[in-house]
Amino acid sequence: MQLFSFFASCPRGLEGVLASELTELGASAVSPTDGGATFGGTWPLLMRANLHSRIASRILWKLEERAYVREDDLYRLAMKIDWPALFSVDKTIKVGVTAVKSPLRSTNLAALKVKDAICDRFRQIDNTRPSVDTQEPDMRIQLYLTDSVATIYLDTSGEALFKRGYRVESVEAPLRENLAAGILALCGWQIDEPLYDPMCGSGTFLIEAALKARNIAPGSRRTFAFQYLRQHDDQAWQALRLEAKNAERNDLPLQISGSDVSSTALLHAQANLAAAKLDDAVSLKQLNMLDAKAPAAAGLLLTNPPYGIRLDEQDKLLAAYPEWGNVLKQRFSGWRAYFFTADPMLAKAIRLRPSRKTPLFNGALECRLLEFKLIAGSNRGHD
Ligand SMILES: C[S@@+](CC[C@H](N)C(=O)[O-])C[C@H]1O[C@@H](n2cnc3c(N)ncnc32)[C@H](O)[C@@H]1O
Repeated sequence: MQLFSFFASCPRGLEGVLASELTELGASAVSPTDGGATFGGTWPLLMRANLHSRIASRILWKLEERAYVREDDLYRLAMKIDWPALFSVDKTIKVGVTAVKSPLRSTNLAALKVKDAICDRFRQIDNTRPSVDTQEPDMRIQLYLTDSVATIYLDTSGEALFKRGYRVESVEAPLRENLAAGILALCGWQIDEPLYDPMCGSGTFLIEAALKARNIAPGSRRTFAFQYLRQHDDQAWQALRLEAKNAERNDLPLQISGSDVSSTALLHAQANLAAAKLDDAVSLKQLNMLDAKAPAAAGLLLTNPPYGIRLDEQDKLLAAYPEWGNVLKQRFSGWRAYFFTADPMLAKAIRLRPSRKTPLFNGALECRLLEFKLIAGSNRGHD
């Protein structure tokens, strides 16, 4: 079977866990790189990665790569690709550009050159060309420019993979689903370990955990751009979907729970759980973090606390951190606790010594995943 080259993008900091996930899915020559992982595989592997990856943001198919100097080189590179053999002229397109140290002055002009080449390849056939749709294109073409090499990818996912198709409600700052899934993987969470999020917001960690525990493919409720490619084999795709459906399991007892001080946040979490058909997999409660109690003798506490942008919010949080630290020390001994935060003050102010600080990016926002091992009597912290 023919082998192709792919690139899976992901939030920065998750490259290692993404690479492990892709290897488990059957990818070959997996190599993590900044913001994703390159890998090789067959077309069925590409479908499998889109359907099953919990951590990837998108799966891109590498079409051409070549050294370049100026914009016209990009036109020539894109002209080498037989676009009409890939998709029909009625599909709308959008060309995106990512440039790292590119000598070109305008990435817009670079995108225009590639778009012109695509349209010209179509025009050669019967003088018709695909339309551009910058909002909801059928086909996303991605140009990646380094200082000297240009690569053209076709995005096989379409909408980003964190859009699982279940989210109906979100709080102010919901985590992206693939970031939440990647953090669960970084924490080494196993499906039989009790999981508790005491500031659960719209429930992203809980839902991602329940999807994994029930072995529900994250892409089982959505469509993908590869379905609109000429080489799409719908029979093979439906067989893969059926295989995934048959592998779902809902017989395992789960210990996944969450709470939040806000009744609105809980309503959102409930609505999302219901939309994901997971309302029986997770228990929710309205509770202040200060009243949180360990739901089991040991387990994983994972949370993404609020992050104050305004000064008065920051002051409130600074006052709350040591109290949260006390709650952990007094009521969660035997647990592993992880805080995912953009606030550099949390690690100090919580008065527990982090055993690990992992840098991660939430979009452009630099964050840390702080690990605290709450072994009774051993973590005296800074106080
Ligand atoms: C950044 S949001 C969490 C977002 C969540 N990870 C998601 O993906 O939807 C922080 C949450 O902490 C909650 N919160 C703030 N202070 C709290 C407290 N003292 N106890 C419990 N929850 C609190 C807020 O209501 C908010 O829902």
